[in-house]
Amino acid sequence: MQKRNPQKTGTPSESRSTPHRLSSDLAWLWPMWGDHASDYGRYADHAIGLIRRHAQRPVATLLDISCGGGKNAWNFKRHFKVTGVDISPTMLDQTRRLNPDCDFVQADMRTFDLGKRFDAVLMDDGISYMTSRADLSAALATAFHHLEPGGVMILTPDVTTETFCQNQTTCTPAEEKYKPTGIEVVFVENNYDPDPTDEHYETTILYLIRENGVLRVETDRFILGLFSLDTWIEMFSDTGFLVQRQAFRDDGVDYTTFICVKPA
Ligand SMILES: C[S@@+](CC[C@H](N)C(=O)[O-])C[C@H]1O[C@@H](n2cnc3c(N)ncnc32)[C@H](O)[C@@H]1O
Repeated sequence: MQKRNPQKTGTPSESRSTPHRLSSDLAWLWPMWGDHASDYGRYADHAIGLIRRHAQRPVATLLDISCGGGKNAWNFKRHFKVTGVDISPTMLDQTRRLNPDCDFVQADMRTFDLGKRFDAVLMDDGISYMTSRADLSAALATAFHHLEPGGVMILTPDVTTETFCQNQTTCTPAEEKYKPTGIEVVFVENNYDPDPTDEHYETTILYLIRENGVLRVETDRFILGLFSLDTWIEMFSDTGFLVQRQAFRDDGVDYTTFICVKPA
């Protein structure tokens, strides 16, 4: 898993009923995987530049859909008034601690309606939770609904079919400055696609946790969406967005960022 994308889960129905462990009993590990200031800051600089360049209206407010533990929100709130939405109460607790000055709402990205619109929308790694075209379409419609005309959505999936790397395995040590005393953690993540003809893949994570030198190994496994560039572009167009894309390379990993404008 890329450093700024530490948390993922299973199919959308699983995400409602079986929260993955980094959103539940292992949530205390979250702040140690990817520094919110440096790792997430590089992505924020990229995305904020795109918002400024492509929005067809002044941008004062931003809706962060699947805000997770609020590492993006921590960076974006320096530029916009940020509201975040996430399905996990545990992750919302984390983002509220990191960002007491922002508003957060617990909701499902496929169905919520806050009754107001925003100048910009951010959909980052949480969009990987959409593992079918129907769910992806519902999430994009929700984003479109919450955007002011002329507003822009920035969306960066973890991978597309074109960038997916079979059996990619990464190993990330916990951030020194967020480690409690006596704790060592290493995150080992493997991405594997058992069937390249469908539109999802599996991620397995090993958490190597040493408490005062004593090792315990925890595991997680979940399914994530995998769509081609053409499919993404078709889905954005079907929702009503005008779409462009921009490459983003971070820490040796290539991403595609989609810039989606709601026509004024
Ligand atoms: C990798 S985390 C996001 C981290 C975030 N980018 C940050 O800056 O800290 C992905 C998030 O997506 C959320 N999520 C998954 N399915 C969701 C859904 N259906 N609706 C809203 N949020 C969802 C998870 O609860 C999780 O917090």
